[in-house]
Amino acid sequence: MSDLDNPPERKDELPADIAARIEIERRRIASRLNGRPRRVLLVGGSGYIGCPVTSHLLAQGYEIVNLDRLVYDNGSAALGYFPHPAYRFVKGDMGDPAALNDALEGVSDVILLAGLVGDPITKKFTEASAAINDAALKRCIDGLGGRGLERVIFVSTCSNYGLIPEDRRADENFELSPLSHYARSKVAAELYLLSKRAEVDYTATILRFATAFGLAPRMRFDLTVNEFARELWLDNELLVFDAHTWRPYCHVKDFARLIDRVLGFPAEEVAFEVFNAGGDLNNHTKQSIVDQILQRLPDRRVAYKADSTDPRNYRVDFSKVRTRLAFEPRYSVGDGIDEILWALGLGLFSDRDERRNFYGNYDLPGL
Ligand SMILES: NC(=O)c1ccc[n+]([C@@H]2O[C@H](COP(=O)([O-])OP(=O)(O)OC[C@H]3O[C@@H](n4cnc5c(N)ncnc54)[C@H](O)[C@@H]3O)[C@@H](O)[C@H]2O)c1
Repeated sequence: MSDLDNPPERKDELPADIAARIEIERRRIASRLNGRPRRVLLVGGSGYIGCPVTSHLLAQGYEIVNLDRLVYDNGSAALGYFPHPAYRFVKGDMGDPAALNDALEGVSDVILLAGLVGDPITKKFTEASAAINDAALKRCIDGLGGRGLERVIFVSTCSNYGLIPEDRRADENFELSPLSHYARSKVAAELYLLSKRAEVDYTATILRFATAFGLAPRMRFDLTVNEFARELWLDNELLVFDAHTWRPYCHVKDFARLIDRVLGFPAEEVAFEVFNAGGDLNNHTKQSIVDQILQRLPDRRVAYKADSTDPRNYRVDFSKVRTRLAFEPRYSVGDGIDEILWALGLGLFSDRDERRNFYGNYDLPGL
């Protein structure tokens, strides 16, 4: 696995007409900002996805402000960015107007990532989930209007689709059928943001993310690909519920590329649009993920069980993001498995059992 010691960055080659439209938009925004760099506020920027988004946007020349409440005591995840001259951290709650006001100083764009993420944590902490994923998020959205922001991107989830018949793939117009507190809050927030269209001075876009995988500074081992890879690497018996169920997956670095793409795309083409975020490359059953890990780690033990408490089964149509934004994921689930096994082999996560909440959304020590 020595080729992973220094993984090559995969560059985007955009069709010439799209590259030209993005360049015109870059100049329009630069002139509006009088040459100031774009400063992006990541709300929830110390999380699993927030950190790779930070790395990517800093490398593209954006300034970053991170507003995060560190609910998992996950402050050290973003520590590596602190020395960067274009990075600022604000500790606070997105629903606190004073913290939000502070974080918004000089900001041109906002990415809303914060919240209690996932079905298990929102089921376990229903009150905190309502306070954060509904009330605080709504207050945060209320605080964004009238500030001359360029873009607001709300990160939602493909879980909003719930159960989809085997022969169908959900596009963005597919009926939403959220099955959990987590997804119901996401659907409500989407509707709330879209309802603001006539009254706000920014361009909002909603991205319904597939399930994330891949290496990141706040590694989450409570997500399928990452968890399965770790359990089998440890030589634990892996218990897989409903192995035939489909889900879409996407590498965290691809999510970062997509956010960058939306920030750069002409405003009128992304204004109040919803995009499924992922690619056909990474629609998988749990069985196919297990099989890919077993190809790399043969002779590990897997037990299968039907009829779990999590009935979600969905295949998603990613043609809109592909055709409208020329976005395709670069990284397959196999790439993610390779890098996770590589990092595990180096001992990078040997502190996982002592810092369980840093590595997954289980409890809320930072609340
Ligand atoms: N990880 C996935 O598989 C996945 C899939 C679909 C959608 N998403 C969405 O992507 C976003 C990021 O997910 P993630 O995996 O990075 O989650 P995460 O749990 O790793 O990160 C969430 C961050 O939000 C912060 N936060 C929580 N409440 C806050 C509050 N009130 N104020 C300020 N900060 C607060 C937390 O401290 C944490 O750093 C979420 O909106 C999530 O719903 C994630």
